[in-house]
Amino acid sequence: MSSSSLTKANAATIDAAPASFSSGGERERSRSPTNPVWKAAIERYYGELAKGGIKASTIDKDLWDVRGPDELIRLSREISTAETVAALKDFQSLQILSDPARLPCFMIPYGLNLRFFGRTAEIQTLKDALHPREEPTQLRAIGIHGLGGVGKSQLALHYVNTSMDAFEVIAWIPAETQIKLVQALCQLAKKLGLAEGENEDDYQNVGKVRDWLNTAGKPFLLIFDNVGKLGLLDQIWPASNRGSIIITSRSHSQAAGRVTATIALSPFRAEEGREVLQSLTGMKPAGDEEETAAREVCRLVDGLPLAMVQISNFIRDRGYSYGEFLRMYEKSAEKIFAKSEPPVEYNHTLLTTWEISLQSLSTEATALQNLLVFFDPDTIPERLLINAKAEIQDARLEFLSDEFE
Ligand SMILES: Nc1ncnc2c1ncn2[C@@H]1O[C@H](COP(=O)(O)OP(=O)(O)OP(=O)(O)O)[C@@H](O)[C@H]1O
Ligand SMILES: [Mg+2]
Repeated sequence: MSSSSLTKANAATIDAAPASFSSGGERERSRSPTNPVWKAAIERYYGELAKGGIKASTIDKDLWDVRGPDELIRLSREISTAETVAALKDFQSLQILSDPARLPCFMIPYGLNLRFFGRTAEIQTLKDALHPREEPTQLRAIGIHGLGGVGKSQLALHYVNTSMDAFEVIAWIPAETQIKLVQALCQLAKKLGLAEGENEDDYQNVGKVRDWLNTAGKPFLLIFDNVGKLGLLDQIWPASNRGSIIITSRSHSQAAGRVTATIALSPFRAEEGREVLQSLTGMKPAGDEEETAAREVCRLVDGLPLAMVQISNFIRDRGYSYGEFLRMYEKSAEKIFAKSEPPVEYNHTLLTTWEISLQSLSTEATALQNLLVFFDPDTIPERLLINAKAEIQDARLEFLSDEFE
């Protein structure tokens, strides 16, 4: 941390010394800190010094000139280290709690994924839909939906990481649950310098963030990732025409409910999938047999990116060829997905991802799912299931003939 990392705005605030502690004349008294965090830091520092019997007047002048932690350390060498540590902590929070003038403000969980592949059309769609316009007329929002592990968050992350120069504020907000959402918004409140103290009410912070977004007139991008219930977003949904929003959700209805456009994200198609696999394993198929095996691997996992990353990790770790992997996969696919490393930025393996999705199904949906596994995966005609002549007699599937279901 260096003094130069403090912004001009903060340096100006720091320069404005605490008049209440000054023993100096009018010049000092007329200057008072405007940033509450800095004020608190100075007050605490002076308080500690006073306890140690050191008169503020002896250090007043120097303290006003402190522009960063290194200077504070220099000054404090002659005084005491305990107070310095405390004051440094405050300094750190001062930096984290940058004031609103300290823009841009980015809250993005992961940097650019160098192994990101494809999705060119979808990235262009995001750009067209979300990039700030010269004369903005309305808030813009887009939803991305698709299977678990298909690449929704990765697509959003890629857009975010390559659009930092277009926005003043970018905030990635996990929105699976109310707790996660509020936690992230409180963090954003702090980063924007809107949260005044440790004990401030979370809901007050959420309100402050929303008000700031609506009134600051700065272009911002919010990403609500993995939205569980769309209603959760009511508390923060802004009105500003400078805003852009991405919603990701496995559910089409959650992703589509509040936006003007949606992207239905599909797994990679055959040819693209083979290229992804090759780029992930770093291994070009050697000869026709290997080429066929690589295609077969992609077909088996239906081009699902999460599965392809896990498979590639497995192939790389064990040094298998595509053919060797295929033979292994045919014997113990489940073990491969259970044992191979999930991607670093994704907490689940393919198996746990599906387990979570399946656990959240209703009783009826579970019964239907148990039936569907016997069909070919593509385009199952609905009439097969609802036609009375199909004579499905399982009581758990009676809802299929209910017109309201
Ligand atoms: N375009 C891509 N290029 C390379 N790898 C990708 C791509 N898309 C996804 N992946 C890989 O797949 C993993 C899962 O993707 P992601 O987290 O985006 O899934 P998701 O659709 O958001 O799933 P969930 O619904 O569970 O949140 C990523 O961690 C990444 O390793
Ligand atoms: Mg996701």
